Amino acid sequence: MCGIIGYIGKRQAFPVIIKGLQMLEYRGYDSAGVALVENNMKVFKKKGKVAELLKLAEVSDTKGTIGIGHTRWATHGAPDDKNAHPHLSQSGKLAVIHNGIIENYIVLKQALMKEGHTFKSDTDTEVLIHLIEAVKEKDNLSLLEAVREALTQVIGAYAIIVMDEKDTDTLIVARRGSPLVLGIGEEEFFIASDASPIVEYTKSVVYLEDNQIAIVKRNGEYNISSIAGVPHTPFIEKLTMEAEALEKNGYDHYMQKEIFEQSHSIADALRGHILPDRSVHLRGLEEISEAMNIARRIIIVACGTSWISGLVGEYLIESLARMPVEVEYASEFRYRKPILNKHDIVIAISQSGETADTLAALQLAKEFGAVTYGICNVVGSSIARMTDAGSYIHVGPEIGVASTKAFTGQVVILSLLALLLAKKRETLSEEEYNKLVDSLENIGDSVDKVLKEEKKIKEIAEILKNKENALFLGRGILFPVALEGALKLKEISYIHAEGYPAAEMKHGPIALVEKDFPVITIATNESLIEKVISNVQEVKARGALTIGLVREGNAEDMKNIFDHIIEIPNVPDEWMPILSVLPLQLLAYHTAIPRGADVDKPRNLAKSVTVE
Ligand code: AGP
Repeated sequence: MCGIIGYIGKRQAFPVIIKGLQMLEYRGYDSAGVALVENNMKVFKKKGKVAELLKLAEVSDTKGTIGIGHTRWATHGAPDDKNAHPHLSQSGKLAVIHNGIIENYIVLKQALMKEGHTFKSDTDTEVLIHLIEAVKEKDNLSLLEAVREALTQVIGAYAIIVMDEKDTDTLIVARRGSPLVLGIGEEEFFIASDASPIVEYTKSVVYLEDNQIAIVKRNGEYNISSIAGVPHTPFIEKLTMEAEALEKNGYDHYMQKEIFEQSHSIADALRGHILPDRSVHLRGLEEISEAMNIARRIIIVACGTSWISGLVGEYLIESLARMPVEVEYASEFRYRKPILNKHDIVIAISQSGETADTLAALQLAKEFGAVTYGICNVVGSSIARMTDAGSYIHVGPEIGVASTKAFTGQVVILSLLALLLAKKRETLSEEEYNKLVDSLENIGDSVDKVLKEEKKIKEIAEILKNKENALFLGRGILFPVALEGALKLKEISYIHAEGYPAAEMKHGPIALVEKDFPVITIATNESLIEKVISNVQEVKARGALTIGLVREGNAEDMKNIFDHIIEIPNVPDEWMPILSVLPLQLLAYHTAIPRGADVDKPRNLAKSVTVE
């Protein structure tokens, strides 16, 4: 939930750190801080976004070639100056930044207070650095051994970087349950929560694994071992992501950029998976093909938008491959004592690959002996490394907190999975199968066509921006798209919005409908379209403002039903979620802007929810 970054080497550390924090702000942005050492420890930190910290830096001494930085999403202690990281030990000579939660910090704090320790903040993190110093002094340990020993006393999740005023040639890093990447330069190291702040300096990285600790030295040496002390031979990976991929490329917001990136990210997600002989190839699936052959059920665990993409996957896999699928909120699944066995395939869907509830649900599935499969975007993320196999959606970094291109990337992988299973289980005729494969492979032109409707969507947003409630309706495979449209609108414009199966609206929500109440209907399915239209007529009869997504060619017939129409190119119902979600993403974006919301970093939200 927080972003951490550290540097040691020949450069001035502050410019590296502050730029890195700006790139990590999507992970949390209620306060930020930096610690540097040149002769002595210098710490400056501030409530608010990194921009506030920059102002403070202008009047601070930011010299030093070793430093650590942190941007926070509060878990323990309110978002304010004193609770911002970095935190110092009792002597003020040791500093730490931390992403995660120390669950037993109260017990540890009480024991330290008995030894005379005093604390300046309400955080669990400050307890950790006091514990490290107490252990170091008591047993006269090196910093590495003191951190190792302290972490054996800690219960919880962490990604930490520890710095010592008296040893400016060393940083200690460790992780359990929160991500940490080590960038290896020429006699310099860049450590961060993900690779985005590192890639412009080096493409050689090591993804630290859970329960690992590392010492990095200014002379370019580094050693990784388990917390228990077992040496680990690092695997150096080469990053393929480019720094400019992280810029806004001329768009006003990352979210807008990422919506329009779908004109190629959908193609990127498809790339290499449909072979000339029309067969579908998911490398990860081959690694569990035995298990998949005997599997009796697929369970999908996820959160938020990823959970919604799982619902689309359920419709696709059940209708095309005739295989039972259950979609579960990861946060519910992990606590409800589910019935699982080795014949189950559990698929975890997560853009960040770090969502705590999804990780925990996955861990539970593994304990039951289920075979696990990951659908992630962040390469090397915890979920991607925990599952038995998986597919990356390869849509590139998604910086905007609202998930857009990741959703369509997830749906593409689930579509491919449904086709692959249908072929394997012979549940589709050759003709049906080829028609679906061809239309999916060529969906890119239709994506571009829909994105060109931005101007019309912006006009509709001009009306929607003055509303405080909205209802999204859809049927069949378009019902999850109604949920996603509602989630997008509420999370970035703060308008209360609900998604509902179109027919179900009569069992309660229709009571909300009054004159000019906005109802957005995804009426793009070929099957059931008459029933969807009759649902729209029911709300229109009660004065609703009706906005409709309709198939190309149907607009004329629907002019008397919808006050506003957005046309969607004709593709099979199965692929309609990929196209139908695009206008809803743009509608949410253009509604939020005039309402003054911070589109890329909506209030109360963070891009990666790594706490429960
Ligand atoms: C969606 O726009 C939100 N950002 C949120 O619901 C998100 O989908 C959810 O937190 C899951 O994140 P993940 O895909 O990284 O696991």
